[in-house]
Amino acid sequence: MLQIKQSNLLYNLSMQIGEEHTVKIESFSNLGFGIARIDRMVIFIDNTCPDDTAKIIITKINKNFAYGTLIEIIEPSKYRKIPICSMYKVCGSCQMAFIDYDCQLDLKKQIVEDAIKKIGGLNTKINDVIASPKNLNYRQKIQYPVSQTKNSKRILAGYYKPQTHDIVNIKYCPVQPEICNSIIDFIRENTPLYNISGYNEQNHTGDLRHIVIRGSEYSGNYLITLVINSNKISNNIENFSKRLFNEFKEVSGVCINLNNKKTNVILSEKTFCVIGQDFVEEKILDKIFKIGADTFFQVNPKSAENIFKYVKNEISKHETPTILDAYAGIATFGIIVSDVAKSVVSVESNKSSIEKAKEVLKENNIKNIELFAQDTTKYLQSIKKKFDITILDPPRKGCTKESLDETLKHTKKEIIYVSCNPATLARDLKYLTSKGCEVKSIQPFDMFCHTYHIENVAIVSV
Ligand SMILES: C[S@@+](CC[C@H](N)C(=O)[O-])C[C@H]1O[C@@H](n2cnc3c(N)ncnc32)[C@H](O)[C@@H]1O
Repeated sequence: MLQIKQSNLLYNLSMQIGEEHTVKIESFSNLGFGIARIDRMVIFIDNTCPDDTAKIIITKINKNFAYGTLIEIIEPSKYRKIPICSMYKVCGSCQMAFIDYDCQLDLKKQIVEDAIKKIGGLNTKINDVIASPKNLNYRQKIQYPVSQTKNSKRILAGYYKPQTHDIVNIKYCPVQPEICNSIIDFIRENTPLYNISGYNEQNHTGDLRHIVIRGSEYSGNYLITLVINSNKISNNIENFSKRLFNEFKEVSGVCINLNNKKTNVILSEKTFCVIGQDFVEEKILDKIFKIGADTFFQVNPKSAENIFKYVKNEISKHETPTILDAYAGIATFGIIVSDVAKSVVSVESNKSSIEKAKEVLKENNIKNIELFAQDTTKYLQSIKKKFDITILDPPRKGCTKESLDETLKHTKKEIIYVSCNPATLARDLKYLTSKGCEVKSIQPFDMFCHTYHIENVAIVSV
């Protein structure tokens, strides 16, 4: 081990930034880089995939690994195809845009296997990834930062270039519904006519900070939220919102979120509906949900439906169990599984998500769900009762040890852990198995096609 480290270090010292090499890409990293080796040194290279032979330039050197940038492909991998988007290299959001879709699924399975083995220390077999029913135009949540050009004051809206806060002015994005490209372009072209300027992050000046769109596969409707750097809605903003609403029949509501804080957080708590409805309705299986500007909902509803079906099927194997739906969002899991459960408790920290969930319960006449707008750990610490099954669906950072301990205390049979981050899933499964749990299966679902992201459902017996 020491020898390897020493030789890496030696190699490291002799490797120089700016050196050019020809390498064969061996594998793919969890952050979307092709991986090659020069002697024992691991090199991460963007825009490459396994089986490429590529000429690269070294851009950064760390102790045991380095980064390189692609100069040219000498021999393309058989997994390459025509990229889904001409902007993918500058935008950086779809790191797999140039890789055949079936191959993307294999690479993502490998990413999950590596995390579960290396971080989790587990040998659990990973199932094949379940593909997304749609791999283009699937993204029903869009959040574009906005700025403007220095001289001409043209509005720019798009994703940030990787590792920067420079906006790539995206005119066409193939993973979002076509209509969203038109809506964003309309905002770009018409806000200056209403004296609405783009935000300047450095000086904290200008009006429009973000455009947030929530769409629905079911209704084809879109809720637009304009995030404004102010503490009040001006006449210009109000008039523009009405103009936007009237321009597109698909736009069912326009909200304004007032956010004048110096922060990277996109939405403040102050959202006001200027015209139309402050939600869109989405149908998952036989239930209708209400999605607001700031409520969590999966970005790819078609793929999410496969996950909900899978979880409901797992719960159906138990006879009318009691369920804890933790990190519940608008209680989507709770509501979906309520017909096969005796009772459900859904716990979610975001109050407005719980408000939306209350409306859904009323409209669907669901009587066996209790909702709590609370932190999961605090809620569990405040109760004595146990649940047959707990569904855990935390944010990317995963669960705290405290919340896992409380979950174990309050779960009799099974934990269904839904995760959008294989690394934190692996860490948390390691902790759960150290407390005597057994991981029965891990099923990946492709929710974020053409990116390195992957969703997983782990079934854990307690
Ligand atoms: C990945 S989302 C899952 C939402 C929901 N299960 C779904 O599928 O639509 C995670 C949710 O956990 C909520 N959350 C984050 N930290 C929390 C905490 N400590 N306690 C309860 N909810 C939390 C977030 O607001 C978010 O709605």
